[in-house]
Amino acid sequence: MRNILLIGGTGFLGGALAHRLASADFSLLLPTRRPERVRHLAVLPTARIVAADVHDDATLARLMAGQDAVVSLVGILKGDFRRAHAELPGKIARAATAADVPRLLHVSALAAAADAPSDYLRSKAAGEAALRAAYPAATIFQPSVIFGRGDSFLTLFARLLRLAPIVPLACADARFQPVWVEDVVSAIVTALDRPESRGQTYPLCGPREYTLRELVAYAGAVSGHPRPIVGLPLALSMLQAFLMEFLPNGPMTRDNVRSMQVPNVCPAGCAPPFGLQPTPLEAVAPGYLAG
Ligand SMILES: NC(=O)c1ccc[n+]([C@@H]2O[C@H](COP(=O)([O-])OP(=O)(O)OC[C@H]3O[C@@H](n4cnc5c(N)ncnc54)[C@H](OP(=O)(O)O)[C@@H]3O)[C@@H](O)[C@H]2O)c1
Repeated sequence: MRNILLIGGTGFLGGALAHRLASADFSLLLPTRRPERVRHLAVLPTARIVAADVHDDATLARLMAGQDAVVSLVGILKGDFRRAHAELPGKIARAATAADVPRLLHVSALAAAADAPSDYLRSKAAGEAALRAAYPAATIFQPSVIFGRGDSFLTLFARLLRLAPIVPLACADARFQPVWVEDVVSAIVTALDRPESRGQTYPLCGPREYTLRELVAYAGAVSGHPRPIVGLPLALSMLQAFLMEFLPNGPMTRDNVRSMQVPNVCPAGCAPPFGLQPTPLEAVAPGYLAG
């Protein structure tokens, strides 16, 4: 059995990855800030959940001991991007190097770039750079928006559409190439056994591009709440996001609006890694959105 440390492994993507790895008999260590919130993962027979502050170097050093691989998945959509996206990957990479962990895999984001328009995307790029500087053989994944049961994307649209008679939509023409969570998991798990993935960066996208308007309309149609959608100009998109920042779990921030100013689609001619065939949205989403 191989030992894998999943940092940020208790969320949407990490949970799916943990299920796949546990079913393949990997032994998993899952640090979390709130073990009481992730009891659903405690049922995995080979998973051990521990309360830990992964920003603490000594804690990271302890977590790394005896691991065959580390997957770094911490991500946020608002909050302290510098700490979570830029500094933490560097700390993880230094700890993995110090502990001689043979593999390090990291989940960043598509369109991450030092000159990107949002703090989210710039901090993701800074994290990639810090990770590579300390662990050049790390494998980096850059997914577009990820869909699947439990996502906070199509599921969120479907919920909002149930409540709203009409949708004033920010960035309606923003472009995405959504990728299924199980396809992202497949790429990560496959990379573990592929030496050629060392040092590589893989964009991960689904088979088709959509505008945000198309995706919201699709979520409405499939969930049984089709609604008229009114695209907002940029100034009103920013105002809407600003107002949502006052809500405790507001679905949008001004930084999210800035992220959507660049296309979240894979570069032309970019093939999925390892010959994997991405799953169409339409083959999966009705299964968790309908009803
Ligand atoms: N979902 C998408 O559409 C999407 C698209 C592109 C890239 N990504 C990237 O994929 C990765 C996983 O995303 P996800 O959707 O699974 O996210 P998620 O469901 O929100 O899970 C986030 C994970 O990060 C941990 N975490 C959050 N803030 C933290 C902090 N300040 N310090 C330490 N741990 C923290 C959480 O652990 P606790 O148990 O401690 O809360 C949780 O395990 C992220 O890097 C994200 O940026 C996601």
